[in-house]
Amino acid sequence: MSIPQIRNRKGAEPLVCLTAYTTQMARRLDPHVDLLLVGDSLGMVVYGFDSTLPVTLDMMIAHGAAVMRGAEHACVIVDLPFGSYQESPEQAFRSAARIMAETGASGVKLEGGAEMAETVRFLTQRCIPVCGHVGLMPQAVNVAGGFKATGRSEEEARQVMRDAQAVAEAGAFAVVLEGTLEPVAAEITAALPVPTIGIGASAACDGQILVSEDVFGLFSDFTPRFVKRYADLGGQISQAAEAYAQDVRARRFPGREHCFLPKGASRTGS
Ligand code: KIV
Repeated sequence: MSIPQIRNRKGAEPLVCLTAYTTQMARRLDPHVDLLLVGDSLGMVVYGFDSTLPVTLDMMIAHGAAVMRGAEHACVIVDLPFGSYQESPEQAFRSAARIMAETGASGVKLEGGAEMAETVRFLTQRCIPVCGHVGLMPQAVNVAGGFKATGRSEEEARQVMRDAQAVAEAGAFAVVLEGTLEPVAAEITAALPVPTIGIGASAACDGQILVSEDVFGLFSDFTPRFVKRYADLGGQISQAAEAYAQDVRARRFPGREHCFLPKGASRTGS
């Protein structure tokens, strides 16, 4: 799916989006989703950091390229990590250009509102499609004092609206709205000419995104209230590991069927 096709889904069938960080996961998700985001959430759910701040551009490029090797149909976009774009539009261009050239992804996502509008314009005018990300911005965890929903007060609601409009006017092809109260998300979705993709921002948005590790039960350090878990793969892995350990300790594994045997030797006998 192309960036114009994503943009044209405004007000139409909801956009289905998930995160992916590896080739194998991308292969499994690709037939079912419109967009795969290589999110910097990988810092927390794959690398075990307690925020997204330690994630580097090289990490995003390695995972972006891995996801591209597993995606055929979905539009793939890659997060610009903390420190790789906030300094200036030029710095953002250099980072985004590396992502585009070294992964083959269709675009980048960056966090920030009105203060990032100039950067969004700079990138989009130079052939780099940008998805905005406003509301709860995980890279701002230290100024916000935690991962908190926004839009509760009039002032917060106005701020998220201003931010979303600023990045959309600057040329973003879509805007991720994270952790935003439903009426505010509905108002923003009605006001923007491009799709809003919600995460903890209600069904009012033009699409939904979740972190795959949350959806499939592969990350259990904490579960945000907006996550719906569709599988318990973490639990299944624990059970499988236990069964493997018991088999090895009891010498039930490997069996003869798993061994390289001399020609003519029986696979069933001893
Ligand atoms: O990094 C990420 O996975 C994201 C999503 C939560 C939208 O930005």
